[in-house]
Amino acid sequence: TVATGHNITFESPDLCALRGSSVQFRCLYSYPEQESVKETAWFKGELINDIWKRTRLSELPSFQDRFEYRGDLQHNCSLVLHSIHSVYLIVTGLNASVHPKRVRAGDHVTLECKTKCQLPVVWFKDGQTVTKSTFQAQAEDAGKYSCAIEGHESVQSDPVVMNVWYSPLNVSVEQSGSGLLSAGSSLNLTCDSAANPAADNYTWYRRSASDSGPLIQVGSGQVLSFSSFSASDTGSYICRARNSLGENVSSGVQMKLEEANYNLFIVLGLGLTVIILFFLPLIIIWAWRRRQCNSAAPEENHSHDYENFFYPKH
Ligand SMILES: *[C@@H]1O[C@H](CO)[C@@H](O)[C@H](O)[C@H]1NC(C)=O
Ligand SMILES: *[C@@H]1O[C@H](CO)[C@@H](O)[C@H](O)[C@H]1NC(C)=O
Ligand SMILES: *[C@@H]1O[C@H](CO)[C@@H](O)[C@H](O)[C@H]1NC(C)=O
Ligand SMILES: *[C@@H]1O[C@H](CO)[C@@H](O)[C@H](O)[C@H]1NC(C)=O
Repeated sequence: TVATGHNITFESPDLCALRGSSVQFRCLYSYPEQESVKETAWFKGELINDIWKRTRLSELPSFQDRFEYRGDLQHNCSLVLHSIHSVYLIVTGLNASVHPKRVRAGDHVTLECKTKCQLPVVWFKDGQTVTKSTFQAQAEDAGKYSCAIEGHESVQSDPVVMNVWYSPLNVSVEQSGSGLLSAGSSLNLTCDSAANPAADNYTWYRRSASDSGPLIQVGSGQVLSFSSFSASDTGSYICRARNSLGENVSSGVQMKLEEANYNLFIVLGLGLTVIILFFLPLIIIWAWRRRQCNSAAPEENHSHDYENFFYPKH
């Protein structure tokens, strides 16, 4: 009970105490100037049968050697308690939150751990330690976050879920069946992407043979089906995936008929034949001419012989 003109002030009414640590209750009191203080004492209050019962700390065995009066008889009534038993403040005092509430890829995110304790906190994401409490969000950062007081990691806050929203990434095209395509075969091209929310709008484009050719829209939906693939279907296929946040495209996937390879062999074969047919006579002629030149002189003698041989007949 405090009489008129008497006043007691606690500097930090919400104290933060960790199990095993010491805590100081900073306390000041005031009283009329003409009075003087003879004695001070700290009590522990307890409600027993609706009656508030006070017991001097010095009379409580559990406080033996654990409390220390730091005050004086002037205005200071501070008390230090050692070897705190309760972790009440920690358990109720940790509150994790993520800002902003709705996170998009690229946003700057801040993890906030509200606690009555002015002590360093650590963060966990899905049970793994997180090094930074502010970062630029990426798709991979989605998960459950919780915080704890450093050194007291076993007592964690309730987890807070961070969902990261992002437009399609890693858009890719997958072809059903084996890679070899013959005319008339059926196949599916499936468009895959990572997106949050999942992509729900797909558009297919084809670029005919040449890379600079125009993009032609050839379908929509996650799967592009061909019941009978034909030569006119060959080209480079591109898929565009879209969700509410944006869109992205796959790289081109070449689709060509198996015959295309045989055609190449035929072209090569024809070319080789033309070369052989064109050059072989030239080589033969050249070889023949060369042979003629080399045998020119002996042939002259030979013709002389002939001449001599036939001469007498005239
Ligand atoms: C996109 O692909 C890369 C490389 O394969 C991978 O590391 C990343 O996790 C993927 N992104 C998503 C959101 O799946
Ligand atoms: C498209 O996806 C790639 C990864 O597959 C990513 O690097 C790029 O930023 C995305 N583009 C857009 C506009 O989202
Ligand atoms: C293509 O997909 C459809 C269903 O979308 C399926 O019935 C068909 O068997 C698939 N064809 C191939 C070649 O995988
Ligand atoms: C898909 O997106 C295109 C625009 O790229 C739009 O014209 C079309 O209506 C969308 N389709 C659906 C089913 O939402």
